[in-house]
Amino acid sequence: MEKLIIEGGFPLHGEVRISGAKNAALPLMAATLLTSGRHTLRNVPDLRDTRTFVRLLENLGVKSERYDDVLILDSTHLNHTEAPYDLVKTMRASVLVLGPLLARFGKAKVSLPGGCAIGARPINFHIMGLERLGVICNLEGGYVDAHVDGPMQGNVIYFDIPSVTGTENLLMAAVLAEGTTVLKNAAREPEIGNLIDMLNTMGARIDGRDTDNLTVHGVKELNPAECTIIPDRIETGTYLIAIAATGGSGKVTGCNPAHLPALLEKLRCAGLLIDETADSISISWPARLREVPILSSVDIKTMPFPGYPTDLQAQYMALMTLGSDICVITETIFENRFMHVAELQRMGARIRVDGHSAVVSGRGMQGLAGAPVMATDLRASSSLVIAGLAASGRTDISRIYHLERGYENLVEKLSGLGARVWKEQE
Ligand code: EPU
Repeated sequence: MEKLIIEGGFPLHGEVRISGAKNAALPLMAATLLTSGRHTLRNVPDLRDTRTFVRLLENLGVKSERYDDVLILDSTHLNHTEAPYDLVKTMRASVLVLGPLLARFGKAKVSLPGGCAIGARPINFHIMGLERLGVICNLEGGYVDAHVDGPMQGNVIYFDIPSVTGTENLLMAAVLAEGTTVLKNAAREPEIGNLIDMLNTMGARIDGRDTDNLTVHGVKELNPAECTIIPDRIETGTYLIAIAATGGSGKVTGCNPAHLPALLEKLRCAGLLIDETADSISISWPARLREVPILSSVDIKTMPFPGYPTDLQAQYMALMTLGSDICVITETIFENRFMHVAELQRMGARIRVDGHSAVVSGRGMQGLAGAPVMATDLRASSSLVIAGLAASGRTDISRIYHLERGYENLVEKLSGLGARVWKEQE
């Protein structure tokens, strides 16, 4: 197994280009199951999760070809409707094949994903929604075994809590249903807008993009499509926070600032200068007399989009350990998303967890020291990378396969910003 070594304490400077969004690529790849033919996806990040999803699709009979960031998926010869435990347990997003398989074949068998490092993450909303469309779902042997006789029937589906993959799954199920489906209190993350654009290009009729009220007018058939994956807003935020935490300055390109309203506002409140164009964000510290900048401590509360994203909570906490005061970080989306706290504490961070909130007592910009730490999930790992870059001395991060699930060319991109970072065998 590999580990990541960081010699910290050096400001990051320069430019970094953002890859396509993992969480947009996965549902768009699932959408190719809806109809036979060759689909072309552009700006697809080369990550452990996108490779696992290709394997899952290949297992169903899809043929794939990859040329740089272009992925061609040919779903003409699908011969299987089962997503096995071996693949689903490594990536929960595999559940996204349920909706499209049911829409196209009237049956699907998908393993239940099981527990996860950040919370229970049930899929009851997905199942409830499918049942509202007429699907019969049986839970047997750890699998959802689902079928529908004839086309699904449009209906009104209400989400108790907006669910990202729940909304995506039900959109893909409803596009070929008879009649109209309305998703109320739906999630409106930018990745859902990307999926709606792809589905509408395929011939679907979905209204309400970027709102929590989506109307799907069922159509009889769809065509293969060509679509571009949006930039990864979480990767964008991670690099912005890393640059800020090291006292550096830089420009993140190929991104969409409109997808990060809450983070950009919080960074400005914390004292950073942020300059946006349509597809880039520059970040720097104001001119100062002292060599070390002063970071204001600013509270956050994670919320569905356009609120502060849970996928940037851990990284922001690493930054706030360097703040000048106390702040409260409240996690409202997942019940167990503070696994990074104990690891950050090993580096000198002062954090107290109380239920869904973490109280962070900032130690100032030179407050962390390198230590051996362990990655526990994707975003917790990136918070340790940020802490390691800001800390004095050496940080060894083990179990970095988590990082490889969601950050394309991390070492190369950080090195391009001047970071001293490399991989070694454990
Ligand atoms: N929920 C239920 N029942 C359901 C579905 C969700 O109770 O059937 C609850 C969840 O437990 C959670 C809340 O609803 O408390 C929202 O979860 P959501 O369904 O939106 O999460 P998800 O679709 O499983 C996606 C991302 C996650 C991201 C969350 C929240 C993908 C593939 N995954 O997960 O990304 O944290 O939305 O924004 O899109 C990551 O990339 O590191 C990651 C974990």
